[in-house]
Amino acid sequence: MASLICSFFAASLLLGWVAGRPWDSAIRMPTERDDEVGTRWAVLVAGSSGYANYRHQADVCHAYQLLKKGGLKEENIVVFMYDDIAGNPLNPRPGVIINHPQGEDVYAGVPKDYTGTQVTAKNLYAVIMGDKSAVKGGSGKVVDSKENDRIFIYYSDHGGPGVLGMPNMPFILAGEFNDVLKKKHAAGTYKEMVIYVEACESGSIFEGLMPEDLNIYVTTASNAEESSWGTYCPGMDPSPPPEFMTCLGDLYSVSWMEDSDAHNLKKETIEKQYQKVKARTSNYNTYNAGSHVMEYGNKSIKSEKLYLYQGFNPANANITDNALHSTFMGVVNQRDADLLFLWRNYERLDDRSEMKREILKEITEIMMHRAHLDSSIEFIGKLIFGLENGPSILKSVRPSGQELVDDWDCLKAMVRIFEFHCGSLTQYGMKHMRAFANICNKGISKDAMEEACITACRSYDSGRWWPSNRGYSA
Ligand SMILES: *[C@@H]1O[C@H](CO)[C@@H](O)[C@H](O)[C@H]1NC(C)=O
Ligand SMILES: *[C@@H]1O[C@H](CO)[C@@H](O)[C@H](O)[C@H]1NC(C)=O
Repeated sequence: MASLICSFFAASLLLGWVAGRPWDSAIRMPTERDDEVGTRWAVLVAGSSGYANYRHQADVCHAYQLLKKGGLKEENIVVFMYDDIAGNPLNPRPGVIINHPQGEDVYAGVPKDYTGTQVTAKNLYAVIMGDKSAVKGGSGKVVDSKENDRIFIYYSDHGGPGVLGMPNMPFILAGEFNDVLKKKHAAGTYKEMVIYVEACESGSIFEGLMPEDLNIYVTTASNAEESSWGTYCPGMDPSPPPEFMTCLGDLYSVSWMEDSDAHNLKKETIEKQYQKVKARTSNYNTYNAGSHVMEYGNKSIKSEKLYLYQGFNPANANITDNALHSTFMGVVNQRDADLLFLWRNYERLDDRSEMKREILKEITEIMMHRAHLDSSIEFIGKLIFGLENGPSILKSVRPSGQELVDDWDCLKAMVRIFEFHCGSLTQYGMKHMRAFANICNKGISKDAMEEACITACRSYDSGRWWPSNRGYSA
């Protein structure tokens, strides 16, 4: 406490505030006025649905509240969320969503721009482009930005190599997403953009794809080859209130938001936040329970102050403390968080209940489909590349700076062929995208792929995971 007061006093002297000059005009540099020209826009995307994925929508609602407190206008914030959490029968606090064990409601007031079936990759692309006529359903709100405007995009969900999840198929493919950003740049309808992405393998969305000359700066929760992590999960430290059987947040996401909530964003640079979030998301260099936050695009942008994107909350005006948050966070791999939720549910129920049998059946089916996906993809690799080379070819990772796949249409086609014969990849199976990419990179024909898929999956009944019920992932 003492040091906080001292540094505040010292800072006050330096800035001339003690001499009675207004705080703000005292620190404003001659060029800073120009930076304020233009509008701040934000696009917030929760890519999942279902109560087991509570945390992604909680993250996005929290982000909305933060930007709103920062002075962004509702008309300039576009929210994509499935919106099946607050009113979910499993929600112990009906109508309320929290993103921290002691957190307040973050759901109230969040605009329902794109919900349910409207949460699609196509609508997201149209919204970013500001193309009202291409949007299907929803509020019709788009990023109608001008050349001096700044745009902040934040996404939270499951991902895989080259892919980000969406609650309605198909997923967001990295190649397509970067093409949209290039088109937006070519349209000249923004000054600068900052993008934060939480997902497994999120680095792969930009690795080798995001150029330095789009005036875009990106950070991702993980590198191109690792999981990102859910946090505030049952049975962990810190854990949610006992009535919650689901995780409340994700490690990278709560790291940047809790940092922004607690700081003066007119003082803090994007760089500073990057460093703090990187330290916290690595769980203080214990990477077995944390991930490597990465950065892409134009790195000059990170010397700017955060308020240009996230706004400025007057309540934080006097905060000068810049200390790192320093507690270790209990975490769970994104891909296991839904199972953790089912297990908690299972354990809690009476042995004789019908519900308990239902949940066990659900867990069994999920585990069996996961095992099927893993083994059939491995088998397909062996059929195509031979017993010895198959596994290593499917897993091989290109050097950093190179994109996942040369031909994104090929990747799409291979995923569809696989799903047609072997069932939907689901959010778990997104982790196998690299295998399909490598099959494309080796120049394997669609016919050869189809033959291998038929052989590997002939005897499997996809049942509820049949893609014509769910749509194809790519
Ligand atoms: C990166 O951003 C800075 C600051 O906006 C700009 O001056 C520079 O030209 C950009 N670099 C590239 C390669 O576009
Ligand atoms: C910040 O400090 C000034 C000067 O003491 C005070 O007038 C103002 O109310 C404070 N702002 C907040 C949000 O605490």
